[in-house]
Amino acid sequence: MPDPLTFAIRVAREAGDVVRQGFGKVQRLDFKGAVNPVTETDTAAEALILARLRTAFPDHAILGEETGGSPWNVPGPIWLVDPLDGTNNFAHGFPHFCVSIGLMIAGELQVGVVYDPLRDELFAAQRGAGTTLNGNPIYVTSVARLADAFLATGFGYNRRVAADNNTRRLDNFLRRSQGVRRAGSAALDMAYVACGRFDGYWESSLSPWDLAAGVLLVQEAGGRCSDYTGETTRLHSGREVLVSNGLIHAEMLRVLREGPAAPHPDFPDLV
Ligand code: IPD
Ligand code: CA
Ligand code: CA
Repeated sequence: MPDPLTFAIRVAREAGDVVRQGFGKVQRLDFKGAVNPVTETDTAAEALILARLRTAFPDHAILGEETGGSPWNVPGPIWLVDPLDGTNNFAHGFPHFCVSIGLMIAGELQVGVVYDPLRDELFAAQRGAGTTLNGNPIYVTSVARLADAFLATGFGYNRRVAADNNTRRLDNFLRRSQGVRRAGSAALDMAYVACGRFDGYWESSLSPWDLAAGVLLVQEAGGRCSDYTGETTRLHSGREVLVSNGLIHAEMLRVLREGPAAPHPDFPDLV
């Protein structure tokens, strides 16, 4: 049996080649929901990853976004695969997306790999061994106040109909931080927290394949991951996630619990 981290890195690069070659050549866009697109590249990249996994780890369970599979919380080893995270970006020629592969064993993440094929940036983590970007160790930032923080978020595929579609929280964080980006790839948002490009990220209505690799990248880079109450027990379901450098976590949790926001008290004169 191959080493899982080495394997995940190799397969993420291989799937990344498929994604890079498909970029700008989308022939046909199908929809899994009103605003949830899927392309031939999503399907092709997932087929490649699953074929490699089945050969290398025939006894392991798999949950892939396009093919489904086992429930994420099976007791044994399970691979959580998002072959193309950022499909909306990909489909519109917006160059920001990745391949995300995570391995969980008995509910604990062991390996996480996120690969951005356009920038050739490979983020990798193994439990207890830290996080790397293209082989070099990376760490979360030391920004200690939300007022100094640069954040990311996203809006789930239920955003047209959900009573709570994250716009109120966006308002709350916009008024209290240095800025909020919605770049369109949850896995890269978390990889960017791990390497210090963002200080924190929150989103709800995700799925286990969106989260698995990114959560481990952040944890192993020294950050903290929880749901909006600060708990970790239901984190991997994807229902809601807050990841941060750890230092601003409590402040972000407070904002997530808030009602409609008011101007930041440090800047009363700004309109
Ligand atoms: C989506 C992206 C996006 C997030 C969505 C995800 P997909 O994944 O990560 O940033 O806001 O909720 O579902 O569909 O492109 O793999
Ligand atoms: Ca995704
Ligand atoms: Ca996807």
